[in-house]
Amino acid sequence: MNIGVMGVTGLVGTDILRILEQRQTPVTELRGFASQRSAGRTVPFNGGEVTCRVLEPGCFDGLDAVVVDVDDPISLEWAPQAAAAGCVVIDNSAAFRMDPDVPLVVAEVNPEDLADLPKGIASCPNCTTMVLMVALGPLHAVNPIKRLIVSTYQSVSGAGQAGLHELRDQWQANADDLDWMTSSGSGEIPQGKVWPIQIAGNAIPLAGSVKDAGYTSEEWKLVRETRKILHDPDIQVSATCVRVPVFVGHAMTANVEFERPMSKAEAVSLLADAPGLVLDADGAPTPLEAAGIDPVLVGRVREDVSRPGALDLWVTGDNLRKGAALNAVQMLEVALAQRS
Ligand SMILES: NC(=O)c1ccc[n+]([C@@H]2O[C@H](COP(=O)([O-])OP(=O)(O)OC[C@H]3O[C@@H](n4cnc5c(N)ncnc54)[C@H](OP(=O)(O)O)[C@@H]3O)[C@@H](O)[C@H]2O)c1
Repeated sequence: MNIGVMGVTGLVGTDILRILEQRQTPVTELRGFASQRSAGRTVPFNGGEVTCRVLEPGCFDGLDAVVVDVDDPISLEWAPQAAAAGCVVIDNSAAFRMDPDVPLVVAEVNPEDLADLPKGIASCPNCTTMVLMVALGPLHAVNPIKRLIVSTYQSVSGAGQAGLHELRDQWQANADDLDWMTSSGSGEIPQGKVWPIQIAGNAIPLAGSVKDAGYTSEEWKLVRETRKILHDPDIQVSATCVRVPVFVGHAMTANVEFERPMSKAEAVSLLADAPGLVLDADGAPTPLEAAGIDPVLVGRVREDVSRPGALDLWVTGDNLRKGAALNAVQMLEVALAQRS
């Protein structure tokens, strides 16, 4: 199998290579693409090295599949060219997620959607929706979700290398300054580059940019992508997305109402053996525990005392692995098996 990775030097691209190695995916050629800045740079893969190339006409010739781990505008331009070159394209960007001719797939929830690829492209959901769907998919399959209220605690790596570096640099620059750590409304909080306000020691209740009805782009992704993945345009979803000073691992609370009442016992029995997750119903798994591992962690399962039949859950997962790279490799495996 000959595989191309667009964005091979990025956070998600790096994890793609790691996961292909760990799953011992039979790769004959790995072709890595990055920006002009990285042309000629090498990245390690399978005991050897891959030299980064730039995107240019003909660059996908001879490849079976391309995984896209670059920003939306670059994907919009180049993913269709990879598909036109005959490659199966798995896209981690948001460029095609809501295109009706592009399936949006969580490998454990709706892999059957990969059977039809009219444009040769399949999209991965955003990292928050992905992690959440692994936990809610098995419940929805037996008792459809009617309403979902989500609050997220999203790590800085969700904003790529720039986000990771911003948190690290702010911590390092101020590590010995107790006044900085405890500064409150009386002090001036400095601006960041990625976020409009310092993220270290803070929580920013505005992830993404503000769109319709005051919801942010990240919040609308949760609304729209949930409906598409679960094949139900009527699910009511409300979300508040918050950026927190965690390096890797997104977490979220979900309050869920179903068509018929769902007890904690029923949810626990459905999630106990569900694929891609580890359930600790009364536990409180943290993003740091989820970072670097494949499964999504589910805890704090409770019956909502204010609304009989509804449930509260806490879900956390590695936004770079299950939230992006692992799911892309899982999709690649399914799509290429279908082709052969
Ligand atoms: N981070 C997450 O948790 C996450 C989760 C789900 C989906 N995603 C999506 O995955 C994609 C990659 O995210 P990331 O976090 O890995 O970002 P990142 O760490 O900032 O990496 C971006 C990658 O894009 C490359 N790139 C930039 N300009 C390019 C160009 N003109 N031509 C070719 N390559 C170019 C960069 O190469 P250089 O190193 O040369 O600049 C780098 O490899 C984005 O669409 C993001 O929304 C991210």
